[in-house]
Amino acid sequence: MLPLSKTLSFSGEAEMVGKARLEWTKVPRNFHDMPDIDTLGEYLEWFLEHGPSCPMTPADGLTFIGNGPGIVLHRDCQFQTQLFFAFPNSKIPEHRHPNVDSIEVNIAPCDMFFYVEGLPSIPHEALYEMRHGVSRWWGRGVRVRPNQFHHLEVGRTGGAFLSVQHWLNGKRPTSVDDDWEGQPMNFAHKEVLALRKIVEDCAQEASLEPI
Ligand SMILES: [Fe+2]
Repeated sequence: MLPLSKTLSFSGEAEMVGKARLEWTKVPRNFHDMPDIDTLGEYLEWFLEHGPSCPMTPADGLTFIGNGPGIVLHRDCQFQTQLFFAFPNSKIPEHRHPNVDSIEVNIAPCDMFFYVEGLPSIPHEALYEMRHGVSRWWGRGVRVRPNQFHHLEVGRTGGAFLSVQHWLNGKRPTSVDDDWEGQPMNFAHKEVLALRKIVEDCAQEASLEPI
């Protein structure tokens, strides 16, 4: 029998659930353990070549705050890759992530413009220059360092991008909307950030109290 990865049909085991007969299978684990990696550039290279073809999303890997829902595709130690969608006719206000170094890779160069320190990562007038059926700006990655403010402007098509990240200063990777300095995306985001600040302040106070 061919291994599942070589078959095209959904030929796994079957079971009866109520009156229905469900066929199920398991996605092959075409995934290579990550070697020791130190830099964000090495991680990007490894992820694009060996990252999971089916997302390996941790329990806290979905985010729905603001105009950009996201899913963690892969996380290992301080490295992580998130896929974000940007709603049509929306904005993500200017902000920065003080504990995250990242490369933002444009995978759907539609009517979406990513700005770093006020500069567009793709020239507006060149967005629809096509090559092999997609914008020639597909796959363009822009580095966003922890101290760099950035924002997103999205037109009628919406957009999507990969955020390939290195979390710094011992901060556990969650979602970049959790590590945020700047204008919140909406009221819910503002509330979440305020709550997080209270928790962090309490934790700091507790650690300062003499025993
Ligand atoms: Fe950001």
